[in-house]
Amino acid sequence: MDPEIFKNSPTGSLAITEHSQFAFVPDELPPRGIQNDAIINRLSDANIQLGELKGAGRNFPNPYLLIRPLQRREAVASSNIEGTHTTLSDLFLLEAGASEAKRPPDTREVMNYVSALEYGIKALVDLPISTRMITEMHRILLSGLPKTRGGSIVPGEYKRNQNFIGGTTLSTARFIPAPPQEMSRLMGNFENFINSDLALRMPALLLAAITHYQFETIHPFPDGNGRVGRLLVPIILKHRGALDEPLLYISPYIEERKDDYIAGLYNVSKTGDWNGWIDFFLQIIEKTCRNTIRTIQKLHDLNIEYLGKVQKARRSALLGKLIDWCFEVPYITIRGVEKYLDISYLSARNHIKTLEAAGILSEYPYSKKPKIFVAWEIYEILETM
Ligand SMILES: Nc1ncnc2c1ncn2[C@@H]1O[C@H](COP(=O)(O)OP(=O)(O)O)[C@@H](O)[C@H]1O
Ligand SMILES: [Mg+2]
Repeated sequence: MDPEIFKNSPTGSLAITEHSQFAFVPDELPPRGIQNDAIINRLSDANIQLGELKGAGRNFPNPYLLIRPLQRREAVASSNIEGTHTTLSDLFLLEAGASEAKRPPDTREVMNYVSALEYGIKALVDLPISTRMITEMHRILLSGLPKTRGGSIVPGEYKRNQNFIGGTTLSTARFIPAPPQEMSRLMGNFENFINSDLALRMPALLLAAITHYQFETIHPFPDGNGRVGRLLVPIILKHRGALDEPLLYISPYIEERKDDYIAGLYNVSKTGDWNGWIDFFLQIIEKTCRNTIRTIQKLHDLNIEYLGKVQKARRSALLGKLIDWCFEVPYITIRGVEKYLDISYLSARNHIKTLEAAGILSEYPYSKKPKIFVAWEIYEILETM
């Protein structure tokens, strides 16, 4: 990292680190240098969309039909940003137990992302957003991975060696975040700030933007910082009541604008450009809200259409339950249905057949053991959102 670029930074200072390199140490929160006038319009637009999304979520009878698939979409996109490549289909296949699921280690990591997210949302009930919660999310995210992926990383522990971003060695790195010995001070400040009165009075979206930069620039873990940092966004929004349910997932849009995302973070450190970063972050929020609202509407319409189909046929109430489940889990197996509906294997097979005949499910052609049935229309809405 070229220290010349950062030596006059208004948002942090340089510290000497391993191999006589310089690291960038961000100032403690709260940040200085945010010009409220410049972001007020963007903030208000993003807040309006967030309110609309909250409303759309409330109109949907069972929010879990949305939360589950949206979280999987997020897990795939957030992992893709980091070079862990899995498709939504691979993830659903692995979760359904298909042996043909591609690239199991990558997909396993994406499943871990889902688990870490679920943990964080649940933990909010009795834990503040704390370093304890954050390290536990990291532990879940990187647990059980093959050595080739994790290397010497201890899941759930802060870095012990200097890490770097961009480049292949410390000396060619584009950016060197704070040194390991600063972790307890900086993460302590991070935790105190998130729970401070000042942060609680701050608009939730602004808090999410600021803390995301800070977390990434501290870069507390050897790896997994991008993902844990993005996991914190829906958690902060839920914690602050900006959403009743965790329905907002930013990674798909960040993935589309990855270069702007990285540049936005970099420029806060380089020139103190908080406003540029916050503006970008709020754009992502606004777009994501609009897109999610549209997706919710499509899923809602399809849900009503499907329930109408089976109601006309006066079929068992369990069919309605199974239809709802297809929205949560668009890839299903006979055994899975047997367990979920607590019915016999034969009856589960018949229920699936009924949904096949109604054009709701069709057999996944590439998996024979177990047979997998896919709700394609639902899957496509999620895949293309
Ligand atoms: N210049 C920068 N300043 C701060 N954070 C950055 C910078 N460039 C990239 N990042 C963040 O670092 C993340 C990658 O860090 P990494 O620990 O590898 O995360 P993961 O394993 O989840 O990949 C990016 O997704 C981004 O959030
Ligand atoms: Mg990484």
